Amino acid sequence: MANILVTGSNGQLGSELKELEKNFSQHNFIFTDIAELDLTKSDVVNSFIIDNNINVCINCAAYTAVDKAEDDHELALLVNAGAVENLAKACKRANARLIHISTDYVFDGTNHMPYVETDSTSPNSFYGFSKLEGEKAVSDNIDDFVIIRTSWLYSSFGNNFVKTMIRLGKERDELGVVVDQIGTPTYAADLAVAIMSSVDTKKTGVYHFSNQGVISWYDFAVSIMDICNLDCKVNAIESKDFPAKANRPFYSVLNKAKISKDFKLEVPYWLDSLKVMIRKL
Ligand SMILES: NC(=O)c1ccc[n+]([C@@H]2O[C@H](COP(=O)([O-])OP(=O)(O)OC[C@H]3O[C@@H](n4cnc5c(N)ncnc54)[C@H](OP(=O)(O)O)[C@@H]3O)[C@@H](O)[C@H]2O)c1
Repeated sequence: MANILVTGSNGQLGSELKELEKNFSQHNFIFTDIAELDLTKSDVVNSFIIDNNINVCINCAAYTAVDKAEDDHELALLVNAGAVENLAKACKRANARLIHISTDYVFDGTNHMPYVETDSTSPNSFYGFSKLEGEKAVSDNIDDFVIIRTSWLYSSFGNNFVKTMIRLGKERDELGVVVDQIGTPTYAADLAVAIMSSVDTKKTGVYHFSNQGVISWYDFAVSIMDICNLDCKVNAIESKDFPAKANRPFYSVLNKAKISKDFKLEVPYWLDSLKVMIRKL
C-alpha cells in the first residue's frame, strides 16, 4: 500500500484521478487543492508530506491560463516552477516518488514528426517556458521522478475546448476554428490511467502521453459538432486570423512509444475517447 498525494485535485486531471480511486483500493489517496495545500509555501508542503507519510505525489496543480501567463509572469513561474521545486525537494527528503505533469508547449512546433522525449525544447510562450522551468525543478532536485508531457487536455470536469465547442454549437449557426495547429487531444481520464500505471514501476524520466492520432483544432471541432448532432457550421481559419496573446506550436504531436512500452499501455484513439467523454456529459 502507498500513501498517494494528488495535488491540484479540483482541476480536470485531479478530478479524473478521484474517479479512478475506487479501482486502486490497495492505495490510500489524499486529494488536495490550493485551499488544503498551497504548493507555493515550502514549509507547509514539507510538513504535509512528512506528517502524512506520503510515498507517491502526483502533481496535477498548475497555472494553466496560457494567454494570461504572457502578462502574469510572476504567478505563472511561482506555480509552474517554484511550487514544483518545493514539491520535488519535499518528496526527495521524504523518499517519495514524484509524478509531475508537463506540456507539449515546451516545444516550438517546428517538427514534422511526432516529438520524442529527447527532442530539444524551445517554448514559444511564457506558459511553456514556466512549465519547462518546472521540469528542470523536478530533474534537478529528485531522482525518483516521472514527468509526463501531455497535450490538448479535456475532461467532463472543468472547462476545456470540448465544452466550449458544445456551448458555442448550441448558440451559433457557424464559427471559425484554427486549422493550422496540429496535435492530438488527450482525454484526462486516459491520462489518469497512464499515471496510475507509472505508480508501481521503478521507471523514471520524461514520458509523452496523449491519445492516438493526429488532427487540427478544426477537425476536433467538426467531430464534436458531429457527435453532439449540433447544427453549427465550422469554418477552417488560420491562426493569423485568430490572434491570441500567446504563441502556440503549429505542430505538437507527441510520440507515445516510450510510455506504451515502459508502462505496458494501450493508448486509446482520440475519437473513441472523445465519444466516451461526450457520452459521460
Ligand atoms: N489543460 C490543458 O490543455 C493542458 C495541456 C497540456 C498539459 N497540461 C498540464 O496538465 C496538468 C493538469 O492540467 P489541468 O487542465 O487538469 O489543470 P487545471 O484544471 O487548471 O487544474 C489545476 C489545479 O491546480 C490548482 N492550483 C493552482 N495553483 C495552486 C497552488 N499554488 N497550490 C495548489 N494547487 C494549485 C488550480 O486551482 P485554481 O483553479 O484555484 O487556480 C486547479 O484546481 C497541468 O500540469 C497542466 O500544465 C494541461
